[in-house]
Amino acid sequence: MDSTKSKAAENTGSDLSEQIKAVTKDSHVRAENTQLMLSYQKGQITQTQYKLLLCSLYEIYRALEEELDRNADHPAVQPIYFPQELARLEALGQDLEHFFGPQWRKRITVPAATHRYAQRLREIGKSSPELLVAHAYTRYLGDLSGGQVLGKITQKSLGLTGNKGILFFSFPGVTSANRFKQLYRSRMNSIEFTEQKRQEALDEAVRAFEFNIDVFDDLQKMLSITEEASSDKGNEAASQSLSKTFSSSPALQFALGVGITLATVGMGVYAF
Ligand code: HEM
Repeated sequence: MDSTKSKAAENTGSDLSEQIKAVTKDSHVRAENTQLMLSYQKGQITQTQYKLLLCSLYEIYRALEEELDRNADHPAVQPIYFPQELARLEALGQDLEHFFGPQWRKRITVPAATHRYAQRLREIGKSSPELLVAHAYTRYLGDLSGGQVLGKITQKSLGLTGNKGILFFSFPGVTSANRFKQLYRSRMNSIEFTEQKRQEALDEAVRAFEFNIDVFDDLQKMLSITEEASSDKGNEAASQSLSKTFSSSPALQFALGVGITLATVGMGVYAF
């Protein structure tokens, strides 16, 4: 028996919603304790951090929602398919436009971890759509839980007025987050899984958290490099040579736009 299996069997009944919560409990604690999420909890989120996060969220939700839409009639997707209530892509586009202007699409740049996460979503959308529930659960129920507090912190930290720049956190189609989460859990529990597929879905949920943790860590690395580069004058030569290397790339144009010097040795950066 592997670790996710034993935890699910020990701690919970047979409902998928309970099992998924139990097997991802430790991963949730680790996600909360990433540097980026800790900055959030301390109310120390900067505009640079937030803009970078929005770019990654856009690519993640683009993949997730395209795959959910394409598989909307699949028996394991249909019960948890709530585009009216949950879809985030349009809101993310509007938030990005708020910060980057009408040419925002050209400014989207994400680290390698985001690219890997989106690739995994597309892969399972094609070969195992029944596992999409694990990813939809991880993102949407997270957004409807701790995510609601993060929205308020973002607004306060960045001094934003109204919903401008923070539409991502707002769910106009959901009147009560708690009641909606209950409905969502009951829909998850109605999916008919074989034992093997149920186990695969639980493993995929743990993976979904890992992908998120990797994205936060990569974003933090991009941000730390900026701070180091701007505080360490000795890096000027290296920084200049890197600028030459990246000078014609959209990644650098983006990086300069958000105030980052790209010294991404060993970390892929993808511009779309
Ligand atoms: C600052 C960081 C975070 C805080 C403070 C936070 C806080 C919370 C809280 C208070 C709940 C409600 C627990 C309950 O109702 O029992 C929750 C649930 C949840 N969170 Fe987070 N969270 C954070 C980050 C994340 C991240 C990064 C993810 C995943 C990407 C995530 C995914 C979830 C999920 C899926 C649930 C629903 C659990 C369930 O009811 O099954 N959270 N979070």
